[in-house]
Amino acid sequence: RLLIIDFGSQVTQLIARRLRELNVYCEIHPYQNVTMDFVRQFAPKAVIFSGGPDSVTREGSPRVPQEIFDYGVPILGICYGQQVMMHQLGGTVLSGHGTAEFGRAYVTPSDERIDLLGGWFLENKEQVWMSHGDHVSVIAPGFKVYGTSPNAPFAITADLDRHFYAVQFHPEVHHTPNGKTLYENFVRIAGFAGDWTMGAYREQMVEKIRTDVGDKKVICALSGGVDSSVAAALIHEAIGDQLTCVFVDHGLLRKNEAQEVVGMFRDNMNLQVIHADETELFLGELEGQSDPETKRKIIGKLFIDVFQKYADGIEGAEFLAQGTLYPDVIESVSFSGGPSVTIKSHHNVGGLPEKMGLKLIEPLRELFKDEVRALGRELGLPDSFIGRHPFPGPGLAIRCPGEITRNKLNILREADAIYLDQIRKHGLYDDIWQAFVAILPVRTVGVMGDGRTYDYACALRAVTSVDGMTADYYPFSHEFLGETATRIINEVKGINRCTYDITSKPPGTIEWE
Ligand code: XMP
Repeated sequence: RLLIIDFGSQVTQLIARRLRELNVYCEIHPYQNVTMDFVRQFAPKAVIFSGGPDSVTREGSPRVPQEIFDYGVPILGICYGQQVMMHQLGGTVLSGHGTAEFGRAYVTPSDERIDLLGGWFLENKEQVWMSHGDHVSVIAPGFKVYGTSPNAPFAITADLDRHFYAVQFHPEVHHTPNGKTLYENFVRIAGFAGDWTMGAYREQMVEKIRTDVGDKKVICALSGGVDSSVAAALIHEAIGDQLTCVFVDHGLLRKNEAQEVVGMFRDNMNLQVIHADETELFLGELEGQSDPETKRKIIGKLFIDVFQKYADGIEGAEFLAQGTLYPDVIESVSFSGGPSVTIKSHHNVGGLPEKMGLKLIEPLRELFKDEVRALGRELGLPDSFIGRHPFPGPGLAIRCPGEITRNKLNILREADAIYLDQIRKHGLYDDIWQAFVAILPVRTVGVMGDGRTYDYACALRAVTSVDGMTADYYPFSHEFLGETATRIINEVKGINRCTYDITSKPPGTIEWE
């Protein structure tokens, strides 16, 4: 296994991600915990020093144990990690004026090509992503330079005898397009077989959950979304009936959704699931409310109250399981308290408050969405479940602009079910990030048969996206749109007009509220 020593970079987890893609098992440990005893016990086959925000020129800044350099395994230092390596091995790092470099840069090779750079420099330069304030000005004895950028004369350095490699840029980020190759070469040099898989992750997590939880009880808010479902399945595998899931049904779910989710987890997978049907409570509080933020806040608050009420009923619960993913971790670290404005107050099952006084278990904290899906498959969740489109915590409330009524919700459910049925039938579901119907707060005049109708209009929405942050409308064929509109208008009583929303994000958002 491989040890990543974390100096606090925003992107350390991405290193782990790149290694997992190469089927190499690794663990990230904060530098404070990495003593030489720790290293010996961990027995890594290779070590990576991450980047970090500090400056090695500052007294008291983070270091690695000096003996790690005599431990005899390959080491790769990245950014701050490079500087630590240079500094501790006798080189010089400078900070201050003119040494900073942020963003895209191009590295050119030296004449000598080394194994670490196999597959690199095919066109004599590589795009890399730099983000450093300091830079190395004198490399440590034994090192040579194998790549240079305009602002980093020591962009790539190595001591080939000891298999120490140090780079100034971040090979783990997307903007270093060939970065993965560098990791691939490094782990090959270190002798990894690349045989570690999601199956192994599952086994390790199960062990870890058992150790952490012992004989205590865990509760979990199950939403039916991929994240909370995979988290629940994994924890259930580890501790069985010590886990109780609460499915908060706010009456704003899609057609048959509550039955499907509860049925699958309770009946097919034997989890203990409490179906907290609080439709009356939620719809009661929402009555007469039409402001989007007010609606969101009411739902978010009630959700917490309801969950708390059911959690209080589960005696001896000490842990709260959450399906937090790595992107949530980065976002909350880098953006909390930042200057960005609130577009929408998000509510989701991951947002339960700390004041509940429960310890958190977050078994997906290191994973990205696609890895969670792979893990879900590993755990035997059906594909149809794993590939589901995201569904927002406030549910249909934000697809029903204006006041929410039971009648509108029922109409919306029927229309939405037909729309999704159409999308599935045409084999388009997996090409689309998210698709849904919004019922509009206007009624329009129509003619059906020989009669006049005065019914609601609805809007179909379907978008492509990578992460929900930006999105484009999905280019359905006119035939598909025509057929779907006809079906909805014919089959759903209460809708007589159908439009297709062709707004991208930005300037629109994906949901209507
Ligand atoms: P917007 O509408 O902001 O949505 O473009 C981006 C993605 O986030 C989902 N969404 C939410 N998910 N709680 C959630 O769990 C929320 O309050 C919420 N609001 C929006 C939305 O469905 C889309 O996938």
